[in-house]
Amino acid sequence: MNYTGVLLFTLLLISTSCHGLNILVILPHVGKSHQLVFEPLLKQLALRGHNLTVITRFPQKKTTANWRDINIGDNEVTTEILEMGVITGTRLGQISGRFLLAELAEQSCTSGLTNERFRNFLKEDNQFDLILVELFNTNCFMGLVRLFGAPVIGLSSCNPPAWIQRWFANPENPSYIPSVFTGFSDSMTFLQRVENTVSLGLDKFIYDYFMAGPGNRFSRKYLGVDTMKGNDVMYNVSLLLTNTHFSLNLPRPFVPNVVEVGGIHIEEPKEIPHEIAKFINESLDGVIYMSMGSTLKGSSFPVDKRNAFLKAFSRVQQRVIWKWETDMENKPRNVETFRWTPQREILCHPNVKVFISHGGLLGTIEAVYCGVPVLVIPQYGDQPLNAKALEKVGGGLIFHLQDATEETILEALNEVLSPKFRMSAKDLSERFKDRPLSPMDTAIYWIEYVAKYRGAPHMRTAAVSMPAYQYLLIDVIAFIALIVISFSYCMYKIAALVFSKLRRNKIKTS
Ligand SMILES: *[C@@H]1O[C@H](CO)[C@@H](O)[C@H](O)[C@H]1NC(C)=O
Ligand SMILES: *[C@@H]1O[C@H](CO)[C@@H](O)[C@H](O)[C@H]1NC(C)=O
Ligand SMILES: *[C@@H]1O[C@H](CO)[C@@H](O)[C@H](O)[C@H]1NC(C)=O
Repeated sequence: MNYTGVLLFTLLLISTSCHGLNILVILPHVGKSHQLVFEPLLKQLALRGHNLTVITRFPQKKTTANWRDINIGDNEVTTEILEMGVITGTRLGQISGRFLLAELAEQSCTSGLTNERFRNFLKEDNQFDLILVELFNTNCFMGLVRLFGAPVIGLSSCNPPAWIQRWFANPENPSYIPSVFTGFSDSMTFLQRVENTVSLGLDKFIYDYFMAGPGNRFSRKYLGVDTMKGNDVMYNVSLLLTNTHFSLNLPRPFVPNVVEVGGIHIEEPKEIPHEIAKFINESLDGVIYMSMGSTLKGSSFPVDKRNAFLKAFSRVQQRVIWKWETDMENKPRNVETFRWTPQREILCHPNVKVFISHGGLLGTIEAVYCGVPVLVIPQYGDQPLNAKALEKVGGGLIFHLQDATEETILEALNEVLSPKFRMSAKDLSERFKDRPLSPMDTAIYWIEYVAKYRGAPHMRTAAVSMPAYQYLLIDVIAFIALIVISFSYCMYKIAALVFSKLRRNKIKTS
């Protein structure tokens, strides 16, 4: 292309691209990972000339062009808060996980909505073309949607729970789509399907009564908006971007306005700090990387289990990096602890052979991206679900902390360290990355699409506004059943009549 060609092409690009939008971004959750998933996307939107106003607890450290933070947090400690206890990693833990979400929701609502910086923001005269909001465990900030009257795009940092799927009438057949809180894969036994069916119902019930109810009260109290009045504002969200991909989170149907962008948080690699890079570079037999994420307190890792891991580690040739906040006693020579570790960079280092993880979605996606097999020790929330999916698609092996002894750990490690497992993880990595459009470009495309068509209501299926009895065909099934029963009854009566007549004739003739 000559110079004029390039110029024309550039002009064409500029004229067809979306003009700078004023975007309100609402990220009220207290867990930082929920923001980290979408930060690269927000940065990209700002780079493309859109103006962002971000309601957040984790403001940018550096000033960024086109980016304004409304900090609704008060520097609360939000990492290393959860203790590993007797119920983490158990069934009971999974069931009560929903109530933990309700508790966190209340915390983010009351502290966020009353925050002085947030109150001042409300007094300003703002107008927005688009609202991006994390859809998770509360609706208490959704009053802003009514106040600003702009189309809304939902962001889901995890596999969206049933109550979120419902707002989009996204198919959620319990026969093969597991509830987030069950830890099942897409092939379930009869009893698992029973549990899953109940679980999907329970998800919605607990959301309605323990999250949406209080959330709406907070919205009425602090924003003066009833989000349920008329049409529940949740059913009017234009688009949902989910941090999932079918190659990892198992295939399932999606309506047109639910789009998978799993892997969107993976940015260009940064440099690994010298000390860690040296440790990895010099390990001739490879490295095992262990991290239980940023929310669990490492020091609450049961001592006997920790010792079992250390003993097992002392018997492998690999070096071990363990993300750990404090000093660790009696660690073998090949084990090193670091307080902070650049996870994605470590995982993609060619010397790293295995990831030992709690199965958080971000870490799981990073391991899949880098093609590293995972030994998953699921603890809470969506981790059992992620772990099960990862195991099914050949990227990892589930390991229960309760079963951990020196021998069982060694056995599991040898399995994930095997060449066969490594090959399987590499194949998965290739499938995960093979897409027509990168997750980032996909997200940008659909966000600008929704703005262009002012909420794009044409993407929504008719099911969104259908009453449940119609959607589930209960009226139709009842109607057909009635006809079949009436018809059978008539046939029976006629047959009885004919039969008795025949018999009478027979008696007469004999
Ligand atoms: C973006 O925000 C700045 C500062 O608030 C404002 O001057 C500018 O006009 C805004 N741009 C758009 C596209 O709204
Ligand atoms: C580690 O190895 C990489 C690639 O061989 C190299 O670029 C890097 O400088 C090394 N770092 C250290 C600290 O040895
Ligand atoms: C639904 O959203 C659209 C914009 O996407 C808006 O124009 C409309 O008023 C909203 N409807 C309700 C009932 O809130």
